Amino acid sequence: MATAELAGKHLVLGMTGGIACYKIAELTRLLTKAGATVQVVMTEAATQFITPVTMQALSGRPVYTSQWDGRVPNNMAHIDLSREADAIVIAPASTDFLAKLAHGMADDLLSTLCVARDCPLLVVPAMNRQMWQNPATQRNVAQLRADGVTLLGPDSGPQACGEIGDGRMLEAKATYEAISSFFSPKILSGRRVLLTAGPTFEPLDPVRGITNRSSGKMGFALARAAQQAGAEVHLVAGPVSLETPWGVFRQDVQTAQQMHDAVMRSVADADIFIGVAAVADWRVAHASEHKIKKTAERALPSFTFVENPDILASVAKLPHPPFAVGFAAESGDLEVHGEEKRMRKNVPLLIGNLGPLTFGLDDNEVILFEAGSATKLTRADKQTLARALIAEIAKRLPDTSLIR
Ligand code: CTP
Repeated sequence: MATAELAGKHLVLGMTGGIACYKIAELTRLLTKAGATVQVVMTEAATQFITPVTMQALSGRPVYTSQWDGRVPNNMAHIDLSREADAIVIAPASTDFLAKLAHGMADDLLSTLCVARDCPLLVVPAMNRQMWQNPATQRNVAQLRADGVTLLGPDSGPQACGEIGDGRMLEAKATYEAISSFFSPKILSGRRVLLTAGPTFEPLDPVRGITNRSSGKMGFALARAAQQAGAEVHLVAGPVSLETPWGVFRQDVQTAQQMHDAVMRSVADADIFIGVAAVADWRVAHASEHKIKKTAERALPSFTFVENPDILASVAKLPHPPFAVGFAAESGDLEVHGEEKRMRKNVPLLIGNLGPLTFGLDDNEVILFEAGSATKLTRADKQTLARALIAEIAKRLPDTSLIR
């Protein structure tokens, strides 16, 4: 599915030698699926890890590996390939290639392309942790940053060599998200966004509890869209099995009370709060410390419930609240309940899900309730909708100079 950021973009994807070359097969698939044209250029070393034939099949274009390639009529591959490009992405970028870039060396097609470019350069490092920490590498990285090169990653974790540490390449999906983010308009630049997402889980005993069917997809999509719009994003997530969007700070919680406490600890720094979580309204007053057993008399257990704090209303009640946005999940009469809920929660904007409850689905249709108006947004997949919602929120923000 084409995305607004990458559709029609022309990328030169430069591969250098490293085991992380296997991730570039998936990255190429994600980029082309999003509508980008991907022109692969490989160093000699990269071809030792994955073949140009594989990359050609995935990108749908001939792959270039040599400065002296006779397919470019004027023998100017180093100029021609980068002139069409909206960006050059080097992934994986080896230690050696970082050093070459930092020193402006041009001794093969890819390094020459980089020196001859007139477009942004994005670099995705991949190496052993000692190589990454080496003072020479760190000097080169600092130089590249100073030269305006964008570094994506590296990640931390287990490495192909068996060691653990910084240096491994971002996963293909995260690299893809970081590239999309690079091309997104920075309409929330300098803003801090705090979000809640997913369900909460209220324990009855150590093994059982009460939860709901929220998948967290809408909240995670909004967190991703806010990050891509240039915001610093803090996502407080209930129990969901979703990947953290690239560049987003995620804090996992279980209960409504924990979600409330996490939000209240961070809200003072936020310019925008978006309550997307389906927060349980009640919890059991005294959850059992031990698993509740069936008794011989087969008496059914009974529970006393107490009310959970209302996170959105607590945020809205603060003396200097951030721009607070609520979500409403209703099983009917949204037009009536949406505006009533917005006023009850005392927030400037409430987003209501239209139609049947859409837990877990990828598509959504919403109405924006605000004082004096209700605006419908067209049905779209959750990521497209999230981008549209972030644009709507950005439009409604008070002037930066007036914001806290
Ligand atoms: N919300 C919250 N804390 C709660 C309950 C809800 O922050 N304890 C937030 C949700 O994240 C959402 C909005 O309030 O942004 C509306 O949630 P919803 O469950 O639709 O509303 P409720 O207040 O629970 O009202 P009702 O259950 O009566 O519809």
